[in-house]
Amino acid sequence: MTRSIDSAPIYFIGGGNMASSLIGGLIKGGHAASLITVVDPGTEPRERLRAEFEVNTVERLDGTAPTGAVVIAVKPHIVESACATLAPELGDDCVVVSVAAGTRSTDIDRWLGGDRHVVRCMPNTPALYGEGASVLFANDSVSPEQRNLAEFILAAGGKTWWVDSEPQLDAVTALSGSGPAYGFLLIEAMADAGRTLGLDAELAEQLAVQTLLGAATMATHDPRSPATLREGVTSKGGTTAAALNAFESAGFRNLVATAMTAARDRAQELAEPTGDTP
Ligand SMILES: NC(=O)c1ccc[n+]([C@@H]2O[C@H](COP(=O)([O-])OP(=O)(O)OC[C@H]3O[C@@H](n4cnc5c(N)ncnc54)[C@H](OP(=O)(O)O)[C@@H]3O)[C@@H](O)[C@H]2O)c1
Repeated sequence: MTRSIDSAPIYFIGGGNMASSLIGGLIKGGHAASLITVVDPGTEPRERLRAEFEVNTVERLDGTAPTGAVVIAVKPHIVESACATLAPELGDDCVVVSVAAGTRSTDIDRWLGGDRHVVRCMPNTPALYGEGASVLFANDSVSPEQRNLAEFILAAGGKTWWVDSEPQLDAVTALSGSGPAYGFLLIEAMADAGRTLGLDAELAEQLAVQTLLGAATMATHDPRSPATLREGVTSKGGTTAAALNAFESAGFRNLVATAMTAARDRAQELAEPTGDTP
């Protein structure tokens, strides 16, 4: 692929939540709307995306051979049929970027007819607000230019990282993929406990949300490690030390490790039905 990222056509197969957030980020970042095409059989998503971003929308590809990048943004159980529809239309130098959870690059490549340039990503839900964490894996056929284009697209939803072994995406799923739910659970638990301690329910929830946002912001901007930041806000014999001692003696770290191992194991099982181990 010789064209620059700025002039790369980007096709989205599926115009739902994830596609909308990436398109919003791309447009905000200055990518021309005329270079973006959304393929979705639904009238509502096509009209919404056309009205909001002035991108091209089509019901089906109908003989258009996509170049640049195609982002597969349909639900995981639709990916195989979407690939089968895409396969005969796909340009040879097009990179296919899948954001579908738990769908292996080897399966996507096979469903597309083989020898395709495939990047598989594990984004997470905060991408809907530009605060996502996406991890990408490229198969051996992906060129450095195609990697840059895939990264450019996912960066529209937040921060990006690469792994060079696909099974690592199962661990990523257990950390950042499912991780927003762990954050929500901690918010719920802190808010419930605050209510039990006598706070108004709404105040308790708002304090829990703002406190975790503040902690994440500090961990983002302060070069010190999270452990050092924690020590910095923990006075010997104080209130935070009392709470942290209670967390540690109840096995909090082991509990997190057990939960994430369960998520990793489930991610492996879900990717298994084809029996095609990457
Ligand atoms: N949302 C997230 O935060 C998030 C996070 C991580 C990963 N992901 C991954 O992103 C992918 C998309 O998720 P989403 O939440 O954006 O789903 P979504 O909102 O349901 O969007 C999917 C869109 O694709 C359309 N569609 C169905 N079949 C199609 C086909 N054959 N060709 C083209 N379009 C078709 C759907 O139409 P109908 O509604 O009419 O079926 C819908 O408009 C999933 O694989 C998911 O695993 C999402």
